[in-house]
Amino acid sequence: MTGSIILIGPMGSGKSTIGRLLAARLRLPYVDSDALIVHHTGVDIPTIFEIEGESGFRERERKIIADLSTWSEPMVLATGGGAILDPANRHHLRQMGQVIHLDISVDEQLRRIRHDRNRPLLQNTDLDCRLKTLAEQRNTLYRETAHWRVVGDGLRSDQVLRRILRHL
Ligand code: S3P
Repeated sequence: MTGSIILIGPMGSGKSTIGRLLAARLRLPYVDSDALIVHHTGVDIPTIFEIEGESGFRERERKIIADLSTWSEPMVLATGGGAILDPANRHHLRQMGQVIHLDISVDEQLRRIRHDRNRPLLQNTDLDCRLKTLAEQRNTLYRETAHWRVVGDGLRSDQVLRRILRHL
């Protein structure tokens, strides 16, 4: 364990926002696996999905997480909502440090990301139904991967941050 803090959880749960705040508070580097993929490819996530499909994106995500797991310095890492789908990712993330599940309900997700255009899995679909299906497929994996969980429904970022800091 390198002492990193890893945020996992569904889309819209605040992984990037909380990750940045947490990194600043703990004086650790902030790393966002999606942002790294975008940086490496030079295109946004919807474009990667368009050209390489979800499987191409997952392959890139797997490589980035495997690479990050070899870093010797601790960091705060925000992952994409589907990072926990891959068993190798789950293993690497747990090896890196404390994995925190930022959880929110589907209703809260709907309120936060209703008009999102940057998440290919949510385009051209019945959003409510899609989010429920993803939650059913993923919630067990989030729970199994995380060391602990914070429920963010109705909370501002600073309130979630305070809960995390109390727990560390
Ligand atoms: C995904 C979540 C996204 C991004 C990609 C796929 C998912 O990240 O990795 O669009 O499968 O849930 P966020 O959770 O930061 O939105």
